Amino acid sequence: MEPSTLLLLLAVGTVAVVALDNGLARTPPMGWLSWERFRCNTDCQHDPDNCISENLYMRMADIIAAEGYKEAGYQYVCIDDCWLSKSRDSNGRLQPDPDRFPHGMKALADYIHSKGLKIGIYEDVGLMTCAKYPGSQGHYEMDAQTFAEWGIDLLKFDGCNISPDAFSEGYRDMGFFLNRTGRPILYSCEWAIGDILHHRAADYTAVLEVCNTCRNYDDINDQWDSIASVINFYAKDIGNFSKIAGPGGWNDPDEMVIGDFSLSRDQERTQMALWSMWAAPLFVSVDLRNIRPESKSLLLNKGVIAVSQDPLGVPGTVRMMVGQISVWTRPILPKGSTAVTMFNPAQGGGPTNVTIPVSKLVDSGPSLYYLVTDTFTGDKVARLSLSQGLSVRVNPTGVAMVTITPA
Ligand SMILES: *[C@@H]1O[C@H](CO)[C@@H](O)[C@H](O)[C@H]1NC(C)=O
Ligand SMILES: *[C@@H]1O[C@H](CO)[C@@H](O)[C@H](O)[C@H]1NC(C)=O
Ligand SMILES: *[C@@H]1O[C@H](CO)[C@@H](O)[C@H](O)[C@H]1NC(C)=O
Repeated sequence: MEPSTLLLLLAVGTVAVVALDNGLARTPPMGWLSWERFRCNTDCQHDPDNCISENLYMRMADIIAAEGYKEAGYQYVCIDDCWLSKSRDSNGRLQPDPDRFPHGMKALADYIHSKGLKIGIYEDVGLMTCAKYPGSQGHYEMDAQTFAEWGIDLLKFDGCNISPDAFSEGYRDMGFFLNRTGRPILYSCEWAIGDILHHRAADYTAVLEVCNTCRNYDDINDQWDSIASVINFYAKDIGNFSKIAGPGGWNDPDEMVIGDFSLSRDQERTQMALWSMWAAPLFVSVDLRNIRPESKSLLLNKGVIAVSQDPLGVPGTVRMMVGQISVWTRPILPKGSTAVTMFNPAQGGGPTNVTIPVSKLVDSGPSLYYLVTDTFTGDKVARLSLSQGLSVRVNPTGVAMVTITPA
């Protein structure tokens, strides 16, 4: 019996969420991914420092290991599309582009492992990748074995160039063969977004039985409109996908673009806060060699990362609206605590003041008093009873983020 069949049978008899049990992604994975920032730049002749090459991933690994990112939890250094040679080798195996990855993938994996980090690679469930390099369809078993032999720790499996009928089976099959390699390989899927693009309801339960993370919305871009549309989608939560995610399987709203070109300071804080509230994977796509110091310290913010990595693993949802301000909450440890993020979508005007009774933000517990901490600064900002109001100011396209803990 294939593992997926077994899991389906198990799921019938239980109300608990059955996530993929390969020991990985017990909290949302964190790392760096090349796509949004470096795309399919293969011109190493004219742009050697920014092209998709072993050099780029080695330099990023150096910085992640040396400049505090690893300690903060960023662990995976992930390759995206355009690493491949245009053809398989004479044995039908995948091979990297020989000019851009002259030492081969095993050597790159060894290098990244030597920094105490993990390596992610990219392939596609269809005949070709999105950028038209060889895809895995027809080769799932061989490709899973190749990745395991190279020492790969994560596979981002894209969803281009395959017929809608073969889609789900392809993701299940690759999951099966990854498991069979015996190497723990975090399985990052685009299955749900594939269903949504083909105008079918995504079966989130089936997806997260097979995948550790699953993209469920369009590719992100380094612009506020793109971030705002992801926030809208997560607020609507169609299909209740927030309820299905948990340790082992997470919804993936795509990369963080903090430190790139377009977002304001408030917008960067909004992305960091909401991605953490959602228990989303935190993969940043930025040039770490020249990131602005304030963007770097945001990515390393201990308070926000603690919310992201909270062991309960319950994704936050919109609890209430105050005018156009959405109030997101997420239960966290210690018991009875709540992470709260107020997001103001207004694009102009000044900051908005919001006051909300504590009783509306926490699930009524044993405590009479609550300590309120500013999540970004760690400052204790108030000690309030259940009936008292919590007041915050929220900037346009910005957030206020607090944690409320029983006193
Ligand atoms: C394979 O699947 C089984 C059953 O879910 C699981 O216990 C095991 O850890 C998996 N192994 C790998 C390497 O993913
Ligand atoms: C989502 O959950 C709500 C209640 O929390 C329920 O009313 C609704 O039918 C659910 N929708 C789907 C598509 O599961
Ligand atoms: C909003 O709150 C700040 C203090 O946080 C206060 O200085 C300001 O006057 C308030 N604005 C309005 C319009 O109430």
